Amino acid sequence: MKVAYLNPTGQLGGAEKALLDLIISVRAVEPQYEPHLIVAADGPFAKEAAALQIPVHIVPLPFALARLGDSAAGGHAGTQTSKIQLLLRLLNASFLLLTYARQLRRMLVNLAPAIIHSNGFKMHALGLLAAPRSTPLVWHIHDYISSRPVMKQLVRWGHKRCAAIIANSHSVAEDIQSVCSNKTPIHPVHNAIDLNYFSPLGNKLELDALAGLPPTTTEIIRVALLGTMARWKGHEVFLRALSLLPATLPVRGYVIGGALYQTDGSQYSIEELRQSAAKLGLQHRVGFTGFISDPAAAMRACDIVVHASTAPEPFGLVIAEAMACARAVIVSQAGGATELVQISETALGHTPGNAQELADRITQLVTNAAQRQQLGAAAHQASRIHFTHHRLANEILPIYKGLLVQQDYRASKAGVPAVANYK
Ligand code: GLC
Repeated sequence: MKVAYLNPTGQLGGAEKALLDLIISVRAVEPQYEPHLIVAADGPFAKEAAALQIPVHIVPLPFALARLGDSAAGGHAGTQTSKIQLLLRLLNASFLLLTYARQLRRMLVNLAPAIIHSNGFKMHALGLLAAPRSTPLVWHIHDYISSRPVMKQLVRWGHKRCAAIIANSHSVAEDIQSVCSNKTPIHPVHNAIDLNYFSPLGNKLELDALAGLPPTTTEIIRVALLGTMARWKGHEVFLRALSLLPATLPVRGYVIGGALYQTDGSQYSIEELRQSAAKLGLQHRVGFTGFISDPAAAMRACDIVVHASTAPEPFGLVIAEAMACARAVIVSQAGGATELVQISETALGHTPGNAQELADRITQLVTNAAQRQQLGAAAHQASRIHFTHHRLANEILPIYKGLLVQQDYRASKAGVPAVANYK
């Protein structure tokens, strides 16, 4: 069963990590599985895939197309690109798009996969243009679309060509359903993570040294927000919450991560956040580590991991990862993120964007070591049930196999010999 995966970026963001875990999961249980990754740019994603022995084919996307941002396409708070600017850029890009689609099609025809599985909106669109008509196309959607005009139109218009849509949560599945007809099945499938890597045991990073903060002489509780610098991930809310904590509370905050994607207007720079922290008088209480390559070691160095997205979080890999590392997690309660936790049992919650509530939850956990420990232990246990590779493979394989059975049935009706790729 040859599956071609299409991914529009060479960076290792959440959707890319999720895709690698999906491939590893299926590979572990299905001997006939032959994944091929087609990536639009070289970079950490392609390198990681190659290190995992997944065949990678790079079909470079022209720079003008790569800059055309998924998240800049509207919807999330703080986005600076106007719809008109975006439309003009879309028009300029259409010629490049068609040329690129032709290249992609040649690659797909040569590979002759049984299924094409696309990840990310640019590849969903390009897949419509490039995929041979007889090959089932699967869209894997990791974000909300109904509030993003361009994406919404694309899905409304293109979904009928898809044999199946996979959504990373029930919440995202409902959102997609609201713009689609009932013709295309939508499967909510939660991501898996590498539970050997994300575990409570292992080395811890020296966060203070990495963030340029002086060593502490007394015991301190470390609270961190980890992830990309997308504006809707709530860095400003996190900083405001830290500024609302009593000055005597033994806490340090850390912003861990750096800007990732090439898209415009949708991310903070570390400098911008440093300035916000300084304005809030937080210079000595907050540190910025920049990008780190060992997130599990960073999480183990924290006592509390904060998720503060101001818009509904489609899934929230960082929540799953922190749970697997047995951290006490505070979740912004909206969207798919709420499907990953049981509030008060495996995490605490706060209303998205409400810095005072977040500050109250942080204070509660800083002052209660027993609760931190209990939440962390329960989260760890839950992660070993919900986020396993095995569970993911058991959900993905029936989708693939169902598509191939349908495919063979259609072929036999048309008098063409069955391909039976799944055997
Ligand atoms: C996207 C979503 C994020 C999710 C990730 C993996 O980046 O915004 O919530 O964790 O995809 O599915």
